[in-house]
Amino acid sequence: MPLAPPNPTVFPPLAGPTPLSDLQREVLALKKAKDAVILAHNYQCEDIQGVADFVGDSLGLAYKAAEVSASTIVFCGVHFMAETAKIVNPAKRVLLPDLEAGCSLADSCPAERLAKAKAENPGMAVVAYINCSAAVKALSDVICTSGNASRIVGRIPADREILFVPDQNLGQWVAERTGRKLRLWPGSCYAHVQFTPTALLRAKALHPGAPVVAHPECTEAVRALADEVCSTELMVAWARRQQADTLIVTTESGMIHRLRREVPGKTFVAAPTDRCACNECRYMKLNTLRKLRDCLANEGPEIALDEEIRAKAEIPLRRMLEWSKT
Ligand code: 13P
Ligand code: SF4
Repeated sequence: MPLAPPNPTVFPPLAGPTPLSDLQREVLALKKAKDAVILAHNYQCEDIQGVADFVGDSLGLAYKAAEVSASTIVFCGVHFMAETAKIVNPAKRVLLPDLEAGCSLADSCPAERLAKAKAENPGMAVVAYINCSAAVKALSDVICTSGNASRIVGRIPADREILFVPDQNLGQWVAERTGRKLRLWPGSCYAHVQFTPTALLRAKALHPGAPVVAHPECTEAVRALADEVCSTELMVAWARRQQADTLIVTTESGMIHRLRREVPGKTFVAAPTDRCACNECRYMKLNTLRKLRDCLANEGPEIALDEEIRAKAEIPLRRMLEWSKT
């Protein structure tokens, strides 16, 4: 008989601000000495979020990276996010605490395969989710994030065929919302597809009446059980709007650190998978506070990009930043 999914992890409201640790103080002193800005994704661990200058989703981080004036950006997230920072702000040194911090979505779409698909389908517009390599961005017409995907797809002329890469779940959600027929690349986020209806229903049964938010990288069956589907940034605004005291969050559990800080007084339940009580992205969690300290101290590892690819990738990225505003 299959085992019942574990009980979800429950995060009660924070009692107050968390005092800085010695290591966090050391990171802040190094950051100042090295003229660095720390940008962190919502999925980073709590102690990294606590020293970051900005914590946000992929879209917010791309805008922030473009406007950094300090000489160094330390990007606490995964490789494609740090690459994005380098694409939009090439004069800066961009550091990533662990260069192995990849992404299953980015891995699912090698540039050579996309180039082949484009050659076989001339005239097709390529909309690439930002979770892809610089080389894939360089082959794309426009980039999108989970925060603006429907808006971006809506800007492509109705008579143009669209290939949406690399997340089939996000693509399917965008197709539902926009009514556009999209050709979907068969990629997925290994972490988000681990959420199942069974595990989510169990969390709902344990917390009756708690509204559920889910990331669009979740499968259709899981999204169908959610009251709201949105990017990590929009989850903060959604949580603020809720009357209920307890909310179920169906995404990488690092998100809950941001929610607890910015939406006080609520209890957050990390949606479980069939096997674990919350869900962590193994790539995001490769960055640690210690690696962040070492990265600042050693001024590396650094993101290196071929200039030709960077310049080509900047065009669809800038297009996204522009289309997102209007
Ligand atoms: P957001 O842009 O919503 O933060 O998502 C990024 C991501 O990698 C989700 O898995
Ligand atoms: Fe990639 Fe999924 Fe990790 Fe986001 S959570 S970085 S999509 S593997």
